[in-house]
Amino acid sequence: LSQCRQYHEKVIDHYERPRNVGSLSKNDPNVGTGLVGAPACGDVMKLQIMVDEATGEIQEVKFKTFGCGSAIASSSLATEKIKGLKVWDAKKITNTDIAKELSLPPVKLHCSMLAEDAIKSAVKDWEAKRAARGLKPLAPL
Ligand code: FES
Ligand code: FES
Repeated sequence: LSQCRQYHEKVIDHYERPRNVGSLSKNDPNVGTGLVGAPACGDVMKLQIMVDEATGEIQEVKFKTFGCGSAIASSSLATEKIKGLKVWDAKKITNTDIAKELSLPPVKLHCSMLAEDAIKSAVKDWEAKRAARGLKPLAPL
């Protein structure tokens, strides 16, 4: 119970009203899908981005998680943070950014790691799909 009280109200807000829940079409060439698991607890998170192929801007983000409340809050916050960012800036978001903003207790740090891993994995997938189409990687401006 003492752990509950440490939870920042922002966690509760994102847990109760998670932003950007859902899926994007995996077959869309501009959609990158990240699917990651947390070794610590076995929870799983899927995060998808839709990227403007000319500018590298993330236009749409969706997530789904079979994870704990902190994982839901972390991914919900992560989707808010990366929407509108360039892919190369989204990759710089770390779990500590997310954990700090949500005031996650140490035992819940791996939940925010899931969100960081999911972003990186989604960007990687998008980059791979882009390369497979013969398009050059976008350089940061
Ligand atoms: Fe609060 Fe478990 S510590 S629900
Ligand atoms: Fe597994 Fe939070 S306890 S993601």
